[in-house]
Amino acid sequence: SSQTYEYLKVSTPRTGVALIELNRPKALNALFTPLITELNACAKQLDKDSSIGAIVLTGSPKAFAAGADIKEMAPKTFGDVYGNDFIESWNDLTLTKKPIISAVNGYALGGGCELAMMADIVYCSASANFGQPEIKLGVIPGAGGSQRLTKGIGKSRAMEMILTGDNLSGTKAGEWGLAAKVFEDAEKCVEGALDTAEKIAGYSRLAVKAAKEVVNKSQDLGIREGVEFERRVFHGLFGSQDQKIGMKAFAEKKKAEWTHE
Ligand code: HXC
Repeated sequence: SSQTYEYLKVSTPRTGVALIELNRPKALNALFTPLITELNACAKQLDKDSSIGAIVLTGSPKAFAAGADIKEMAPKTFGDVYGNDFIESWNDLTLTKKPIISAVNGYALGGGCELAMMADIVYCSASANFGQPEIKLGVIPGAGGSQRLTKGIGKSRAMEMILTGDNLSGTKAGEWGLAAKVFEDAEKCVEGALDTAEKIAGYSRLAVKAAKEVVNKSQDLGIREGVEFERRVFHGLFGSQDQKIGMKAFAEKKKAEWTHE
């Protein structure tokens, strides 16, 4: 990305892979609208960038993000938050068509945990600290936590976390399926996420986009409609060059050279 941001560091450490690092170290990457606005703009731009096939989102070793900015929220009234749809735009990250892997190290609390869960794949280090501590502040999760955490780890465990405000270690997050992989430390976690992103970026962009779309549909549709939707999208890919390229390469025992068309 040629653009510069105040609260993000954006780089391309691997072929086809963009790395977005949240960069508000003084507040442990506490999330506020200026940061989220940059993140949304960045994701949108990467979505359009044909050289990029997958995105890794991370914070620092100490904090992925310690939540929404409590000092910014404290004085807000109902009129402010309802009237201006506070938090609504935070969900825009989920409109990104390219796969996003969150690499979670340190604190991922409140809005930070919710942001991590907006990604398509969650990786973390064993010592990561996930939590929805909003109950301690007299509020509740407001950026999808009650829905995504419940779908991620089940109702009883999500209810326990949200009602107690207790944290979940990275190790437990792996055991409970919130994270797909757990790494020894922060550096290995980011490297692991970049490895996976690079692998994904090496496939047909069309197939990757379709795969993300159909898996996400499973979150909203019943099984019969979901399977029908999947089949239609599967059929549609037979109109792509990449389907011919991929299947021909298999038969010829060659590496597929995708055209992404
Ligand atoms: C604003 C924050 C912050 C936050 C940390 N800071 N979290 N500022 N909002 N969410 C600031 C601190 O005030 C402090 O600033 C600096 O970052 C370093 O943090 P410390 O507390 O000194 O660090 P430490 O002692 O290591 O403790 C880390 C911590 C603690 C356990 C993560 O900071 C903490 O409990 N933070 C709040 C976590 C939380 O409640 N998150 C949920 C927010 S509600 P100074 O200026 O003193 O150096 C939420 C709602 C979501 O997210 C709903 C919609 C998105």
